[in-house]
Amino acid sequence: MSYNMSSWPLAVLLVAVTTLLLLLRWLNPTRRNRVPGPTLRWPILGHLLHLNATNPYPAMEKLRQKYGPIFQLQLGSWTTVVLTDCQQIKQFLNQPEFSYRPSMFLFNAFSCNGHGVASSNGSLWQEQRRFAVRNLRNLGMSNQSISTHVQNEIIAMMDMFNKTVGQPIDLNFNLNIAITNIIWAIVAGRRLEYDNPLFLNLVSSINLNFEVGGSFGVINFLPWLAKIIPASFLGTDKIQHSLQHHHSYLRDIIKEHQDNYNPENEPSDYIDYFLLEQKKNTDASSTFTETQLLVTISDLFVAGGETTSTSLRWAILLITSHDDVQRKIQEEIDLVIGRERLPSSADQSNMPYTSAVIYETLRFSDIISLGLFHATRNDVEFEGLFIPKDSIVVAFLGHSHRSRQYWSKPEEFYPEHFLDDNGQLRNNVEGFLPFSMGKRQCIGDKLAVLEMFMFISHFYQRYRFRLCDEPKPSFEIDPRSGVIRWPSPYKVILEKRQ
Ligand code: HEM
Repeated sequence: MSYNMSSWPLAVLLVAVTTLLLLLRWLNPTRRNRVPGPTLRWPILGHLLHLNATNPYPAMEKLRQKYGPIFQLQLGSWTTVVLTDCQQIKQFLNQPEFSYRPSMFLFNAFSCNGHGVASSNGSLWQEQRRFAVRNLRNLGMSNQSISTHVQNEIIAMMDMFNKTVGQPIDLNFNLNIAITNIIWAIVAGRRLEYDNPLFLNLVSSINLNFEVGGSFGVINFLPWLAKIIPASFLGTDKIQHSLQHHHSYLRDIIKEHQDNYNPENEPSDYIDYFLLEQKKNTDASSTFTETQLLVTISDLFVAGGETTSTSLRWAILLITSHDDVQRKIQEEIDLVIGRERLPSSADQSNMPYTSAVIYETLRFSDIISLGLFHATRNDVEFEGLFIPKDSIVVAFLGHSHRSRQYWSKPEEFYPEHFLDDNGQLRNNVEGFLPFSMGKRQCIGDKLAVLEMFMFISHFYQRYRFRLCDEPKPSFEIDPRSGVIRWPSPYKVILEKRQ
């Protein structure tokens, strides 16, 4: 065997360079501290096929078991980091560098490219969120004065109930309209009749956007598909069309407010407050623009309507399918309110059982299990792990809602989770995050709980609810769900309580 001595130095050099490169790669902090997750992935799609777009939760749970409380996926063009541990989620959501929203189809379409509150970023978001929180409070969103709007809607719904006593009814659409009308009163200072076609269209278009544009809709992760696949196939034409329709409706309402605007009058709704602020901020860099107003009120409809009405649909399904829970709520109503007068928001603090049922509904239904996506703007380190710039970060709120660490019967609907040994309501229960938390925490949490309390106490004061056999009641989520976990369709029969 003969060796070519002249090739030795080259071979040594090659080995040395390769070793050095491997060493450098190993020492590189981004590599060493990479968030764990599956390494094998499909070209282009990455790990998208790991997740079922309408029900990604079981797969997320499996990934957690395999890779630990923080794991990473490549979803199409997005590096996606998922946090599952409640304490880590809290810590993460409190840091300003994680309070961005990603620039993806769903957020861009809803926000006219970065306006409003829910999908905007940076100083515009900060200023507009602060303005929204302050003025929703001015409008009495979390106190007594809002009770009147809520009560008006409940009375309108109960008029409808009185005509359908003894017959199977699907409450879905009417609940949706009632809740949208409450937001409508806060935002635009009026209520609309349930059969107004414009209003019905508005509510249906919001629902459609939730159905087609769900967070895990493939278009969010592979946006370039929109350039090669017809919009009708992807369903994005429906979203664009319904948004145009929805926005032109809201523009007319803004125009009416502008025409009737009188600085002498006290503002009476959100649009008035915004117009007043707009008059004060006249310089070119002001964020109080018409597009901003349009998208914010659209955000309030979308974020405040479908969420609360879905939670109420879950509440009625869960209460009605647990006889003992329905009975205990009615006993508490009879004791605290009686049958003569209507419930009011002031009763809530005297009704721990009903309040516990509401919180348990929010836990069990877990309607926004994956929160709303957050994003990073720069490379960041979290818990010693490297998260690259422009990653999506998902706070898997639903994991805590189902964890044995916090709940004695996580798989059951068990209002006692929220009661202490004396039957009093437990506040600040660990592991309970339906409204998320931190910098982006929901701004409508108090309104949502108040609405749920008012609807449930009025309904169960007057009627006994029974579930119909068809469609078969189930606690599985509706497979058409998008961002929000809808309950499967069901019908109820109401009987007047004697
Ligand atoms: C049961 C009902 C509701 C639930 C479960 C719910 C839940 C949530 C969640 C999980 C978020 C995401 C927070 C994050 O990104 O970390 C959110 C954001 C938001 N919610 Fe709610 N929400 C409800 C009702 C409402 C209501 C009634 C309103 C309005 C009046 C509202 C307005 C908003 C807004 C504007 C945001 C975006 C906040 C931001 O990005 O700064 N929500 N909500």
